[in-house]
Amino acid sequence: MIITNLGDSNSVLNQFIAEIRDKDIQKNQMRFRRNLERIGEIFAYEISKKLNYRPAEVTTPLGIAGCSMPSDEIVLATILRAGLPLHNGFLNYFDHAQNAFIAAYRKYGKDNKFDINLEYCTCPSIEGKVLILIDTMLATGASLALAYQKLLENGTPEAVHLACPIASRDGVEYLSKNMPHRNVYLWVGAVDEELTNKSYIVPGLGDAGDLAYGDKH
Ligand code: URA
Repeated sequence: MIITNLGDSNSVLNQFIAEIRDKDIQKNQMRFRRNLERIGEIFAYEISKKLNYRPAEVTTPLGIAGCSMPSDEIVLATILRAGLPLHNGFLNYFDHAQNAFIAAYRKYGKDNKFDINLEYCTCPSIEGKVLILIDTMLATGASLALAYQKLLENGTPEAVHLACPIASRDGVEYLSKNMPHRNVYLWVGAVDEELTNKSYIVPGLGDAGDLAYGDKH
C-alpha cells in the first residue's frame, strides 16, 4: 500500500482540516459539512493525478484543441454517514463516477470492545474499475477493511484509493498489514498518534457523523 499524507506539504487543505478539528468552528454544522466537501475536492484532485488518461480532441469555436481526458471508470464508495459530505466533494470533480454506499457501525460489548456491523450496501460492478473508498476518520481501520471486503463481492477493481482525511497511526498500520500491496493507495490529511479506550482519535475532531448531521439520539 502506498501512503500519502497530503497534510505534509503546505496547502489550503491544512486550513480546512484545522477548521473541522476546531471545537468552536465545528459547532457550525453547515460549515463543517462544507469543509469536508472542500477536503473531498482536494483529495479528488490529488487522486486524479494517479488515473489513466487518453488523448482526445475538443472542438472550440475557433478550432480543435488537443487534450487528455481521464479514461478510468471510477466508483466512489462511501461509508455512511460521516463520509457523505466528502463524497459530494469527490463527485464535484469526478462527476461521471458511479456510486456505492455502505452502512457500518460499531456495536460495543464489554470493556469498550466492539464489532463492526455492516448493514445496507449498494454497489455497482467494480470489476476493472478504480475504486475510491471514502471515510472521514480512519481510527482502527477495521470498518474500512471490512467495507472493502464487502465491496469486493461486486468484482475486482484495477486500483483502489482509500481516502481518510484524519487517520490514527494504529489505523494506518492496520491497513498496511491488512490491505493488498498492489495498486492500493491510502490518502490521508493528518495522522494522529492516539486513540481513546473507545477508539476515538486523539486529538482527532470528535464524532464526525454527529458533527455533520446531529446526535444519533
Ligand atoms: N469516528 C469518528 O467520528 N471519530 C473518531 O475519532 C473515530 C471514529
